Amino acid sequence: MPASAAGATGTGFITTALAAPVSAAEAALRPLSFADFAGQPKTVERLKVMVGAAKRRGEALNHILLSGPPGLGKTTLAFILGHELGRNVRVTSGPVVEKAGDLAGLLTNLEEGDILFIDEIHRIPKTVEEYLYSAMEDFRLDIMIDQGPNARSVRLSIPKFTLIGATTRSGLLTAPLRSRFTLNTRLDYYDRATLEGIVRRSCGLLKVDIDEGGAKEIATRARGTPRIANNLVNFCRDYASEKANGKITQPVAAAALELLEIDAAGLDEMDKRVLRLMAENYKGGPVGLGTIAIAVGEEADTLEEVHEPFLIQEGYLARTAQGRVLTAKGYHAIGLKAATSDQQTLL
Ligand SMILES: Nc1ncnc2c1ncn2[C@@H]1O[C@H](COP(=O)(O)OP(=O)(O)OP(=O)(O)O)[C@@H](O)[C@H]1O
Ligand SMILES: [Mg+2]
Repeated sequence: MPASAAGATGTGFITTALAAPVSAAEAALRPLSFADFAGQPKTVERLKVMVGAAKRRGEALNHILLSGPPGLGKTTLAFILGHELGRNVRVTSGPVVEKAGDLAGLLTNLEEGDILFIDEIHRIPKTVEEYLYSAMEDFRLDIMIDQGPNARSVRLSIPKFTLIGATTRSGLLTAPLRSRFTLNTRLDYYDRATLEGIVRRSCGLLKVDIDEGGAKEIATRARGTPRIANNLVNFCRDYASEKANGKITQPVAAAALELLEIDAAGLDEMDKRVLRLMAENYKGGPVGLGTIAIAVGEEADTLEEVHEPFLIQEGYLARTAQGRVLTAKGYHAIGLKAATSDQQTLL
């Protein structure tokens, strides 16, 4: 029997926002349909298959887990799924669902076929996670109300709903939870050509004049991430209107991004601090993530979720059983030459 959930009778029900709390600038650029969503061909195809089948059968969509680094489109896809199915999307986040009662409040307020989007689902408390199992599988919740001699179990039926979980750390999800998702799909960093398309689309929506060189420059420095690309578009737009004639050309974009200290490959200040630390203090590694985190003054979690995946994918870092190792490309990015012995030489 699941652990007691005294909160079920309290006022612990949370209210959910109908839209994700994003900045107005981000919301304006968010694609609303698959047709507007660029890239991620495998994930999109899988989702389209599931949407098509759910519509044909007139049933709720099966549960889906979206994972991947921040800013690649997990929340966007959840809303697209709602839009394509013509269903409501209720949004909440793992750490907000503190008690089984919170979950009960959310689930019993859904209508059949609705989508419950739980962001940062890896941060849902373990005690609540157990309740999620029966909700996902059997669409019921057995919760305990009251405590001590008055404690009793109440069974709640919940409408057939779709859970869409998003996580930047799928490795932290327990196996039982992960296995209850029909589809577990991971978003990858975007290639330059796709980001260029996203930059152009955003400029079109913002009515900003941009040429091919400008779009290429922004796409190259966007760290494979649409959110960053859009932020750079916004900054370049401001820069162009203050320092140029309003048009984002290659030199304008390059100057604007120089001002932000984003280098030609898109590496930011923290990325470079990590690479420099590994080269200068640890002879290129292997070195543990915890050590790197303390030395650069960043949370280990943030390094692992935000910085490391990109550095590894682009080949600046490698992960070994002994720790992180700097590659020749990593040395090159900070103006050093890979050591053949343990002595680095300046290029
Ligand atoms: N494939 C895409 N095409 C066009 N724009 C996109 C795409 N993916 C994401 N974006 C843009 O990037 C922004 C960030 O995406 P989103 O909020 O979906 O990321 P996320 O994966 O949920 O990030 P987080 O892990 O931080 O919550 C969106 O507002 C949207 O404008
Ligand atoms: Mg999100």
